[in-house]
Amino acid sequence: METIKSYIQKNQQRFLDELFVLLRIPSVSADPKYAPDVIRTAEAVSERLRAAGAENVEIMPTGGHPMVYGEKIIDPKLPTVLVYGHYDVQPADPLELWHTPPFEPVVRDGNIYARGACDDKGQMFMHVKAFELMMQTESLPCNIKFMIEGEEEIGSSNLGPFIRKYKDKLKADVILISDTSIIANDTPSITVGLRGLTYVEVEITGPNIDLHSGVYGGAVANPINTLCKMIASLHDADNHITIPGFYDKVKTVSKEERAEMDKAPFNLNDYKKHLDIGDVWGEKGYTTRERTSIRPTLDVNGIWGGYTGEGAKTVLPSKAFAKISMRLVPGQDSDEVTALFRKHFESIAPSSVKVVVRPHHGGNPVVVPTDTIAYKAASKAMEESFGKKPIPAREGGSIPIVALFEDVLGLKSILMGFGLDSDAIHSPNEHYGVFNYLKGIETIPLFYKYFAEYSKTK
Ligand code: BES
Ligand code: MN
Ligand code: MN
Repeated sequence: METIKSYIQKNQQRFLDELFVLLRIPSVSADPKYAPDVIRTAEAVSERLRAAGAENVEIMPTGGHPMVYGEKIIDPKLPTVLVYGHYDVQPADPLELWHTPPFEPVVRDGNIYARGACDDKGQMFMHVKAFELMMQTESLPCNIKFMIEGEEEIGSSNLGPFIRKYKDKLKADVILISDTSIIANDTPSITVGLRGLTYVEVEITGPNIDLHSGVYGGAVANPINTLCKMIASLHDADNHITIPGFYDKVKTVSKEERAEMDKAPFNLNDYKKHLDIGDVWGEKGYTTRERTSIRPTLDVNGIWGGYTGEGAKTVLPSKAFAKISMRLVPGQDSDEVTALFRKHFESIAPSSVKVVVRPHHGGNPVVVPTDTIAYKAASKAMEESFGKKPIPAREGGSIPIVALFEDVLGLKSILMGFGLDSDAIHSPNEHYGVFNYLKGIETIPLFYKYFAEYSKTK
């Protein structure tokens, strides 16, 4: 423990400087104009892995952005940990809301501000630095494989084929991921559930061209009005989702489990204040925390159509569009829910408009068991580094690879993240605590230590 702490103390400035090099490259996977930067980031990550002591480091092509791979096999008889993370980031817009530019990282009030600081360059890089630490202090007790992808933020759609193709290469005993949050810096937690996702785009067409809203208005269905009405009907008065069959396969969480979850600290007033909202919203019968973890949702992510330029133009538009996501919980299947949505959305469209539903990406929900050696090792590691036993907690976000790994490799993941919900991931002014970054680097070697130890007595 002391060697870990003193190594971090001696090297913390360099740990930050090296992370900053990665943060300066705008690896936005969604926008083709950043494709060269995505490649440069993959190269930079692979260099860092090599420098830390990884072998067989390669940038592996996929159908999209490449995967960075590296490994250190010290003894085939020892357990193997597969580290997953992503080096791609979300677009930084709206740029004008950033206090400092998104790709010019700075430390302000103990936080690293930059796009990707927390999600996931900062969290991914903790593993590279923890690996370096274990190599330098000759304390790596397991084999280690790194798989760092460049398409997580756009749905990991090439990942299924990739892990099927390299099933043998990726063989491991457990997957370790830091791409989630803890409850608070004085309340450590381990993520034991993630929601799944289905994401669709809808297109509503009314008349075949934009019309004069005075000449035709009142007699021809306005596709934007119609789309709004259709979307509004997707929730009832209790904010339940109205798609037939949507909840059929949702596994109910027992009263006991809900009571257990409710013990985690949560302050509704602080929550509202932080977001500057007058009140929360959500499905009747569930708490705010439950609404963002154990319950499925449906949200419009974007909606457009008609005239949105300067001034006013009187027009009855021909088309209206929306991007809609549904977060799924255990029991639900992404493809099945996509089909239910399509069927329902088509059925509620009046004959005055045409509707097209285009599915984007998706992913299935996951639960992480707490009775495994790997969970116990993660729990023990966090208990030691935070001085407090971590609480198992479900989270609302999605990481498509977790369910994929389970299906293809039969492997469970450990979701040992160090972010905070307030880190503004995907938002302007994303940040990551220097405390959290260094605490991660401190905790990860302890995970390896206990995972190796507990594996021996298996
Ligand atoms: N790291 C997040 C997921 C996350 C965030 C999980 C916070 C738990 C807590 C990840 O990078 C992400 O943003 N995933 C996307 C899914 C993807 C298919 C676009 C998401 O959840 O929207
Ligand atoms: Mn992420
Ligand atoms: Mn993300």
